[in-house]
This record gives sequence, structure tokens and C-alpha cells, in this order.
Amino acid sequence: PKAEFIAELMGKMTLDEKIGQLNLPTSGDITTGAANSSNVAKNIEEGKVGGLFNIKSVQKIREVQRIAVEKSRLKIPLLFGMDVIHGYETTFPIPLGLSCTWDMKLIERSAQIAAQEASADGINWTFSPMVDISRDPRWGRVSEGSGEDPFLGSAIAKAMVMGYQGNDLSSKNTILSCVKHFALYGAPDAGRDYNTVDMSRIKMYNDYFPPYKAAIDAGVGSVMASFNEVEGIPATGNKWLMTDVLRKQWGFKGFVVTDFTGIPEMIQHGMGDLQTVSALALNAGIEMDMVGEGFLTTLKKSLDEKKVSLEQIDHAVQLILEAKYDLGLFQDPYKYCDLNRAKTEIFTNNNRSEARNTAAQSLVLLKNQEQLLPLKKSGTIAVIGPLADAKENMAGTWSVATNMEKSVSLIAGIKEVAANSTVLYAKGSNLDYDAVFEEKATMFGKTLHRDNRSAAELLAEALKIANQSDVIIAALGESAEMSGESSSRTQLEIPQAQKDLLQALLKTGKPVVLVLFTGRPLVLVQENETVPAILNTWFAGSEAGLAIADVLFGDVNPSGKLTATFPRSVGQVPIYYNQKNTGRPLGNKDGKFEKFRSNYIDERNEPLYPFGFGLSYTTFNYANLKVSSDKMNFNDAIKVTVDITNSGNYDGKEVVQLYVRDLVGSVTRPVKELKGFQKIALKKGETKTVTFEITVETLKFYNSELQFTAEPGAFEVFVGTNSDTEFKVGFELNK
Ligand code: IFM
Repeated sequence: PKAEFIAELMGKMTLDEKIGQLNLPTSGDITTGAANSSNVAKNIEEGKVGGLFNIKSVQKIREVQRIAVEKSRLKIPLLFGMDVIHGYETTFPIPLGLSCTWDMKLIERSAQIAAQEASADGINWTFSPMVDISRDPRWGRVSEGSGEDPFLGSAIAKAMVMGYQGNDLSSKNTILSCVKHFALYGAPDAGRDYNTVDMSRIKMYNDYFPPYKAAIDAGVGSVMASFNEVEGIPATGNKWLMTDVLRKQWGFKGFVVTDFTGIPEMIQHGMGDLQTVSALALNAGIEMDMVGEGFLTTLKKSLDEKKVSLEQIDHAVQLILEAKYDLGLFQDPYKYCDLNRAKTEIFTNNNRSEARNTAAQSLVLLKNQEQLLPLKKSGTIAVIGPLADAKENMAGTWSVATNMEKSVSLIAGIKEVAANSTVLYAKGSNLDYDAVFEEKATMFGKTLHRDNRSAAELLAEALKIANQSDVIIAALGESAEMSGESSSRTQLEIPQAQKDLLQALLKTGKPVVLVLFTGRPLVLVQENETVPAILNTWFAGSEAGLAIADVLFGDVNPSGKLTATFPRSVGQVPIYYNQKNTGRPLGNKDGKFEKFRSNYIDERNEPLYPFGFGLSYTTFNYANLKVSSDKMNFNDAIKVTVDITNSGNYDGKEVVQLYVRDLVGSVTRPVKELKGFQKIALKKGETKTVTFEITVETLKFYNSELQFTAEPGAFEVFVGTNSDTEFKVGFELNK
């Protein structure tokens, strides 16, 4: 019936109505605060709109849908999209934080809750997951992805798609997912957003493509093109990418939407005028034009001039109508417009408590000298820093549906969780000394309110309460919009005003805990040397303050592990654990400089904190690493087992990580690649045996012919608590 229904509908459509389905304007009322729907309303009536995005509230959406299904000639319902990136009103940690849970069930559940709330408010399509691999923390959008690793990134991509779409897209509480930004958006030259990308195909296939492909394999319904070029052709106009790779090689059956004005931006890229670039996009395999109106205004002419074909337009229309059909919109265009659901299913106590738990699991303990943490819930605690009382910053970047007023600040969370202690607060400093810098780091009103007092006055107030306290919690780092879109940085340190504040607090001699807020890996060399305890909290979502307090006071034992390497200096970037050995690797791991080897004269090669790193309040011992056989054939599987013991004083969770090294290959192979992980809970004193299976699939990679294959020979398997592990066994793969 679907095919017949759509064929019959398309049989009635004029060319203008067909082209209209390919057009996705924005309502504008979220990003600019001004509703510009009047023009859009007229276009909807005339059948010139296929969907609308970033319009919030079920009432407004119902109203707009009514125009489409009551006033337009063919009554075709609209898609309603939104950037529901890490939760809806109940906001989860930024995706980089979420990835540090290494818990696929929690991640899937976060997307499910996001879908539940968004669909209750009229939304049926989210522009998520963002799965762009990035090895460059200068790039502001590292905050929106799952870090640097293709294996972990693929698992997360799958979990997110499953969470949004479920097994039944037509169910009223699931929504269409859109994997983005295809492709390679996370690898711009110099970490500057929207900049040129230049990469070999072998690197694309092995390191950057896997998470997009995992989302396709999981059945994602739509794909968003990236802004950048790929092999000299903007992704939006790149037929190899959009047709050969995406559809022919990977079998994608849904539709592709541009990222915002991706079509007209090709004029700036130097690809021709609007008509030329619009035809280029359609011919490449793009179905929907977000905001650009290139399709709307030029496709008819291009058809007359035979620059595009009617079959192509029809094909694009068909894919968009299929998505609407799969969502059940033809059966009931108001399916996602239930006013009662909007009242009862959004920002519920249950959703908030799940978000709080997930947020606590995403925090990464970077240092904890002499078990300073967890803190006692008594005595006097000074909470100091520009991020201590900053609820508008807790949700982090791309949280368009968050009600910032309702987010829980750190200070509010501490007061609730440690209710019997005396909590003192001072701001201590502004975000930085430079007001202009702060202004640049502001979007969507998530600025930190600037205090007009001088730096000396702010510091004096902070030192006064610091001296009255038993312990200082310094809430420092980036503001929410210092990462995210169009927020690239060349410096990766905490802004200077806050660094100075921290050093002054340390001078009081009181114990200091640094509660770090950041949307990217930062350079923390000085902090690591001088501060006894560092808890990295990312931007943990609407319940951030409570989740952080849960960890600070020991109600939750931290178990988050980094999914992106923290460098020692910007000069090391791009930096990542799964690097190649080179022909001149260093012979030592002590940081000693070696002439004519691959190293720096002014910095070590190692990062400050490696991929997979994160401490717990307890300790874990690894022992008895074994392979079930040290020989394996292509059809076999071998088992890797290891015993993990909780050898410390708290119950806790550990992410057991398995890495593989292919020692000899027809192309150079990374020194380590993540190929398995398990998050386990261990009671104090408990031991568990963890088992991983290795099959030939685990060992496959793309060779120089881009064939996905494994090669016989010797392999090493590493197991450990982070990517630095040298705990290993060997085996051989035979044909
Ligand atoms: O989904 C986003 C994308 O990630 C960046 N540009 C705008 C899109 C729609 O808001």
C-alpha cells in the first residue's frame, strides 16, 4: 500500500508541488527569537514547503500543520524537525560527555527519552546523532560528537538511532533520526569550523566513515550533508559521497538533507551560481534543501534546460513522502500534536532522575590525590568560580529546547545533596579578563553574566570565604558556547582570569577540588601539577548540579572514561591514541628527546590524559589475561579472558577496554585499535572474569584497494583501564 499510495499521490502533484516537498525552511523563532512564519505560511498553503524546523511547542506546530493539511491543495502533512541533540527539555550531557559513560543502554535510553519528549511537543524529526569523528579539540564541535574513536563512535551511533527511532517509526513516541554531518566534518584544517578537509580515502574508510555507516546499518531514516568539501567537491554536491558511497556501497534508502544553506554556500566554495549548485546538489543525491531555497527557485529552470531530470526530482519527492508515510503522518497528520502529552510527558520527575543518573555516569575523575574526594557532607564548603552559579550554562551547546531557568546549577545541587554542610559562594572572577572574548563566546543567550567589579575585588571576596572554609570547590572552565558550532579555539587552556583565581585559591593552603566545565579536551598541565583533585563534568545537562554533587559527595562513584585525548599542548594536535608507529618511533616512554626520531624538542609525545582514561574512588586490578588459543583461522573465534578485582574501598564500575594491534600489514596499521569494551559493576573486594570474543570481523580493515579484509599474521591483544595499557597477549591469524 505504501508504494501505491505514494505513486497515486505523486500522480496528482504538479511540478511546483513536487519541488515544494524538497524545501525545508526554518520558522526562525528559536534561533532569532522572531517568528517569520507569515511568508512560510503562504508558501505552505501554496504547497511549496515539505517541512519546517526549529519551531517549538505543540500548539504552534499543530497550527502550522493545520495550514498544510487544510489549506494546501493536496493536504500533504509537514515534517517538523529540530536539533534535539542531547535531550529535549530534560537535557542530558553534551554528546561528548554522554560518550564518556561508555554505556550503550544509557545512551540509547537518553535518545529514547529525547524522542518521547520531542514527539510529545510536536516534533517528528531530529537532526541527531552527530557522529563526526574528531581528533582536534580546537574544533568547537567536538562537544557534539562521541570523540575520536571509530569503534566506540559506531556503537554510539547505533544506540542513538535505536533510541530515537525504536523498532517502529510509526509509534507516536519515536521520531525520525538524521545522522550528520556526512562526511568528515570533524576534520577541518587547523580545527577551524567549516574549513577545508583533505583526507585520503583509506583514512576515510578506516577512521572517519564507520560511525556514519553504523547509523545507516541501524536503519537511520535521514542523513545530513556536511558543509565541508571532500576531495575538492563540497559534500553537498559530491556525487561519489552521496550516491556511490552512501547509496550504492552502504545501501541507504532514506533521504539526504543539506546542512542549512549548504546549497547556496557552494557559490562561495566557487562551484557556480545558484542554479548550477542546486542542480549539482540534486544530481549528487541530495533530496531536501534546508533554508537555501536553491531547489525552490531554480530546479524548474534546470529541468527545462535538461540540467536535471524529472526522474531525479520524482525520486527525491518519493523518498521524502516515504518518510512521512513511515512516520504515520498521512494516517494522522496531528499524530505528534497531542496537547495532553505535551503537558504530561515533558520534563517529568522520572526523566529528570534518569538524566541525573546518566549525567553522574558521564563525569570523568582526572585526579584525586590522597583521596580528597569524595567529600564529607558536613563542615564549611566554599564554592567559587564563574560557573558555580550558572544554570544557564549547565545544558551546554545545542540545547535549543532546554528551559535554562529550570536547570540545576552546581551551587543548587551541592546545597541539596550536602544539605547539612554550610555552603558559601563567591564568583571569584569573570569568565576571562577580556569582555570582547566573552561576547564572542555567546550564543542563544548562554552568556555568563559579567560582573562589573574589578578582578581584585572579585578575588578578595573569594579569598575571604575560602579562608573560612574546610574545602574549596573551584567551578571553572569554558562557558557553554565556547564550544559548539562556530566556536573554534587556538588556545586550549582555561581562560587566564580563572587560572589566576585557581592559583590564588591554592595559595590559601586549603584543599581545592577543581570542578571543570568544558565542551572539549583542554590543556590542563598546570592544573594537573598543582590541584589535588580534578573532576571533569563537561556540560552535564539540566540536572548537572545534582549529578556533580552526587559524585563529589560519594553517592555515585565516578566511572566515566575519556573518549578524546587530552593533549599537553595545542602543538600536539591532532592527537589520538590509534596513531601509526612511523618509521622512526621513539625508543623511550620517559619523554626523553631523541634526535632523528619522531618527537618534539619542546614537548613530550604523550598526551596529558589518554583516550579511555578516568579514575574511580576505588581501584581495579587486572590479572590472568589469556587467549583461548594462540592460533585462529578465518572461520574461528577465540576468547580473551581477564580477571578484574575491585581492590579498593568502594563499590564501583569499570570500563574494561580491549585493543588490538595488527603487527604486519599490506598497509601500515595503528599501534592500537579499540575492538571491545565492557562496563562492569564490582562490589568492594569482588572479582569478575570478563570475556571478549575475537572473530575475523574484529580484525578487518580497509586495504589500499579499499577492500574490507583481514590479513593473516601476528596480532597483539591489549586489555586495560585505558588506551595506555601494555597488558597484552599474542595470537596468530591463519588462512
Ligand atoms: O542541525 C544543524 C547543524 O548541525 C548545523 N547547522 C544548522 C542545522 C539545523 O539547525
